[in-house]
Amino acid sequence: MSKDRMIEIRRQNCNPMTMKVTYYKKPVFIHQGYMQWLWDVDGRRYLDLFAGVATVSVGHCHPKVTAAAEQQLKKLWHTTNIYVYPTLHEYCEKLASHFPDPLKVIYLTNSGSEANDLAILMARLHTGNYDIISLRGSYHGGSPQTIGLTSNAAYKYPVASGFGCTNTMCPDVFRGPWGGSHCRDSPVQTIRECTCAQGHCMANQQYIAQLKETFATSVPNKIAAFFGEPIQGVGGAVQYPKNYLKEAYKLVREQGGICVADEVQTGFGRTGSHFWGFQGHDVIPDMVTMAKGIGNGFPMGAVVTTPEIAASFSKGLHFNTFGGNPLACAVASSVLDTIREDDTQQNSLRVGTYLITELAKLRDKYEIIGDVRGKGLQIGVEMVRDKVQLYSQKKIACKKMYCDAQTDQSRAVFAALYMQWVRKERKQGAYFPFYSLYKQKKLMLFTHSKEHRWVGISCSGKIVYSCNAWFSVPSFQSSYRFFHTVFLTCKTASSKSTCIS
Ligand SMILES: Cc1ncc(COP(=O)(O)O)c(C=O)c1O
Repeated sequence: MSKDRMIEIRRQNCNPMTMKVTYYKKPVFIHQGYMQWLWDVDGRRYLDLFAGVATVSVGHCHPKVTAAAEQQLKKLWHTTNIYVYPTLHEYCEKLASHFPDPLKVIYLTNSGSEANDLAILMARLHTGNYDIISLRGSYHGGSPQTIGLTSNAAYKYPVASGFGCTNTMCPDVFRGPWGGSHCRDSPVQTIRECTCAQGHCMANQQYIAQLKETFATSVPNKIAAFFGEPIQGVGGAVQYPKNYLKEAYKLVREQGGICVADEVQTGFGRTGSHFWGFQGHDVIPDMVTMAKGIGNGFPMGAVVTTPEIAASFSKGLHFNTFGGNPLACAVASSVLDTIREDDTQQNSLRVGTYLITELAKLRDKYEIIGDVRGKGLQIGVEMVRDKVQLYSQKKIACKKMYCDAQTDQSRAVFAALYMQWVRKERKQGAYFPFYSLYKQKKLMLFTHSKEHRWVGISCSGKIVYSCNAWFSVPSFQSSYRFFHTVFLTCKTASSKSTCIS
């Protein structure tokens, strides 16, 4: 099918939103993928820095996962979980083994929004309370219920939705009113000064005071739940002060609520130091929701909770036709095995730490890079007009900066960034650790293999950013930052090679 025809169909027959969210001046016509690579219909190869919105956790068409899917396809495509079949039980046991007690009961869904919807319902039934608190800037899904948890004007509609959801201040130590140079659990801290004594985070206390204010003013005495991403994803890899979640969980439980960690982006080893993002905060949630990386692109999600909460929910009947379908379970089971065998968590830690550290050097050099943050391969680079005006951006300035950033400035910065890595690695003769990212966030396969080194060197000077690297700029909404992703186009002779079949 020709490209023109595809665009015509996209205009006429596809969800019109898809025309809106195409970030590229020239659309990318993706045709095939293999591990960290994507090929377009012309055979041009791309290093995938976006991983299908942080979803392809172990690599496009990973041979092992593909084989597992093929095997299951020949055996049994579908039956529902009212029947007993091995893949469902093998998978539930395997997934449960990745959680501390008492998180041992698993509900399988088909997406992250569906998982969060289910978590909302379970929290309300278990606690007998209705109100739910989430953080501003968060993204928890686009369904009528989760849209209330999601705190980002771009995803809101002027219709009644998300009843009982209240958004509280996000403890953003870079852009929020408080923050310093020791707050984050990241290899890189903010550029803000900090006078806090060791172990005493003033910013944390201020943000916790804001949460208390929300309890005092915006919700009833008893609440159902608090939802939080361990690191905000769509909101911009925003990290909270180190003890924020710990103290917030305590307060939420005092108000009768349960604590839900949305691991849709942070789960499955992306943050490097731990398998789950919540472990980096030294907390144990009452419920964990997940999707994206769980199936390496196979549509899947899950809620993991305690037997006690599950018991409250089992008073009614809950049925999900596709949740835990044999094919999904076979794929997800193989993904878990692959994460272990390919050691992608360790890879996220090693490569992510390197990237964050190198990016921070560029932040120190370029005025336009305001912040570099994150953990493992959940990395955010926040673009600013300049480091002084950072906290007084006007709407119009944001808009201009947003436009600038989409064109020359960001390209220059990111080209510089890329070239510096290349040069550094050349000089040292070390491996160039550029690989499929897990949404910088990106694929967790951004590794140090020989092939990767070849990739880096062969790309040097010939890399064209067909879009921006994954970065953020303050956007038209005050608390929301747009994020853009990149397909790095490797315009080398070899990159024109035909797809791996
Ligand atoms: C943290 C988080 N939660 C929930 C969701 C919703 O997941 P889905 O798009 O699978 O419904 C997303 C999607 O981006 C997400 O990033």
